[in-house]
Amino acid sequence: MDSKSPAVSKITVPAILERKLHGEKITSLTAYDYPTARLIDEAGIDIVLVGDSLAQVMLGYDSTLPLTAEEMLHHLRAVRRGVQRALVVADLPYGSYHLGEKEALETSLRFVKQGGAEAVKIEGGKNRARLIRRLVGAEIPVMGHIGLTPQSIHRMGGYSVQGRSLESANTLLADAQALEDSGAFAVVLEAIPRELAAIVTRRLRIPTIGIGAGPECDGQILVFHDVVGLTFGRSAKFVRPYANLGQALHDALTRFKGDVLGSRYPSDSESYHWSSALLDQFEKEVSSKTRS
Ligand code: KIV
Repeated sequence: MDSKSPAVSKITVPAILERKLHGEKITSLTAYDYPTARLIDEAGIDIVLVGDSLAQVMLGYDSTLPLTAEEMLHHLRAVRRGVQRALVVADLPYGSYHLGEKEALETSLRFVKQGGAEAVKIEGGKNRARLIRRLVGAEIPVMGHIGLTPQSIHRMGGYSVQGRSLESANTLLADAQALEDSGAFAVVLEAIPRELAAIVTRRLRIPTIGIGAGPECDGQILVFHDVVGLTFGRSAKFVRPYANLGQALHDALTRFKGDVLGSRYPSDSESYHWSSALLDQFEKEVSSKTRS
């Protein structure tokens, strides 16, 4: 099969729902550009999320809050071009759906029509139920996201584990149920105790995708840069780096610098050449011009 042939069995929303019925795990990673989206898709990951972590990981903002729908769309389109098999989900950025259902619908429709998203993700529980019904009614599949929701940073007062008390666990369970009832096809559970995630997972018919929520979730999602060790700062407890690309890139760049400074790059074989006849002729022409 050449690299242009369609990959086996495109992942769709019904295919994700079926995974839960058959007890098969779901894999998901974030992507923000064409080459990483392509690598993730070729590795057979099921869901590619163009997450609003884009704000921090790729654009250098200190939270997800400043990210605009325009910025998201730009990266979503690059990811779309790199993915053939996986389900492409786009995060609705902070402030792109808070003014009301009309705004949420407009942003989501742009992501689907102009960006090629096959679903959108929205942070929040019960408070998003009406909105999710509206989007699903417009044929836009929705993934929920509860637990640690980074867009609520100011309300939460930091990025801390959620659902530690019985009261917040009850709220989270009710939120998960509300997401399912409103038509969401999956729900991300972020940074909650394993035991709570296991109970939510058992009670829902739709799949749970965990990030820092333990192994009983129906699937797992991580931020691509965390998985390949391309971050600056300390990683969260749940991050398992499968490569150290940060170090590998640092080494490569330092070696390039050293080779240029030491005149080891480029070598003769990395240079284009004239034939010796052309060189002779040109040197004669140049020296005759110098003399006259
Ligand atoms: O934006 C993101 O990367 C996310 C995942 C952490 C689920 O929302």
